[in-house]
Amino acid sequence: MSTALIVLAAGKGTRMMSDRAKVLHEVAHAPLLWHALRGGMALDPERIVVVAGHEAEAVAASAQDYAPDAQVVIQAEQRGTAHAVAQARDALQGFDGDAIVLYGDTPFIGEATLERMARARATHDVVVLGFEADDPARYGRLVADGDTLERIVEYKDATEAERAITLSNSGVLAADAATLMALIDAVSDDNASGEFYLTDVVQIARGRGLSAGVVRCDEAETMGVNSRADLARAEAAFQARARALLLDEGVTLQAPETVMLAWDTVIGRDVVVEPNVVFGPHVTVETGAVIRAFSHLEGCHVSRGAVVGPYARLRPGAELAEDVRVGNFVEIKNAQLAEGVKVNHLSYIGDAEIGERTNVGAGTITCNYDGVFKHRTVIGRDVFVGSDTMLVAPVTLGDGSMTASGSTITEDVAPGALALGRARQVTKPGFAEKLFSMLRARKARGGKD
Ligand code: UD1
Ligand code: CA
Repeated sequence: MSTALIVLAAGKGTRMMSDRAKVLHEVAHAPLLWHALRGGMALDPERIVVVAGHEAEAVAASAQDYAPDAQVVIQAEQRGTAHAVAQARDALQGFDGDAIVLYGDTPFIGEATLERMARARATHDVVVLGFEADDPARYGRLVADGDTLERIVEYKDATEAERAITLSNSGVLAADAATLMALIDAVSDDNASGEFYLTDVVQIARGRGLSAGVVRCDEAETMGVNSRADLARAEAAFQARARALLLDEGVTLQAPETVMLAWDTVIGRDVVVEPNVVFGPHVTVETGAVIRAFSHLEGCHVSRGAVVGPYARLRPGAELAEDVRVGNFVEIKNAQLAEGVKVNHLSYIGDAEIGERTNVGAGTITCNYDGVFKHRTVIGRDVFVGSDTMLVAPVTLGDGSMTASGSTITEDVAPGALALGRARQVTKPGFAEKLFSMLRARKARGGKD
């Protein structure tokens, strides 16, 4: 059965108090919209239609960033969820299969839940995802008998008796696409909000002799984001789940609640993550690596057996091969460190490659930027970079070479060579003693000459 996703994302999200469309606000470094799409991807959709309105251009760009073949349709005026779905009609021309309606601001509907809905379509023409709400508040209520759904009543239109129902509407709905469009044609805006409610298709379907059913899911999955407080709650929920998943998969998190993960963080088995580590987007950590406390990683790869931190910063393009050591107060950006490289203290390595087993001394800096262009530093294998070396790029250190501590290296160093790039030392015997007594005498006179 082929599937089309219709993702509703036209709403303004007034309560976010934002200039940005609500669905572009991020949880774990990904827009809410991506989270919503991610669940739907499990169904291997043949078409993806995103209904945009507010900030439509930015929403479209973001949707296509995640799913390049997503079609974006514009709902210029937000006249209700059924009206929003109707905007997808043209984009679904020639499509034969099921449509699943998702909300862009409801990020956590799981793959398994959507698969259950797809299966329930074998028994029902319209399938709605419901949940038992702790506090059903203003959710639409599902009037159901077991798994059979009679109708959905919006809170504003519900009677007291209907408001007492706790089985609530998540908003997710599945039906044959052509059937859904035909049902939507019959929806009116004759209700308390004056909107075209998607929820009305259930009663309309039943009136036409079609069947409707409920699939239930956990309330946590249906969490929607309407405010910054909701966004913070969604972040917390995401983090809690992502940490629990890593623990299940054999990752040690010494203080799970202090580790922040991104939507796409990948961490292998037997990795140890110490407290207060932050993972930005696009990080992979292989089996058995150790990420020590207070490190910040984004856009990087850490191979087996590597040790990072404490207090290390790995920025986009940092690639650490097996058994690399990156220590405290070291920043690595766009640089490949081969097996066994050590950069243990207070260094900046940017736009560089470093060969196997090379040791980079404390305080080394790749001077990669001339104010206009970035330049590369190439360091061979088995090199010893003396402490406090300034490597003025573009520059190359040959295999097995060495730089003297405190050097400023502006020219390439041949393999096996020692480069000294510092002023020769001058020592004046007894001078310190004389200088000290002069200064102390001056202090005794009250600082006067
Ligand atoms: C909707 C459901 C309600 C359900 C609740 C779950 C209807 C009529 N009601 O109510 O039963 O319990 O969601 O959260 O469907 N949108 C558009 N265009 C529009 C209107 C909405 O794109 O014209 C989008 C919004 O951006 C949002 C989603 O659809 O992502 C839901 O709309 P919203 O107005 O929040 O619906 P609710 O009133 O919460
Ligand atoms: Ca809502």
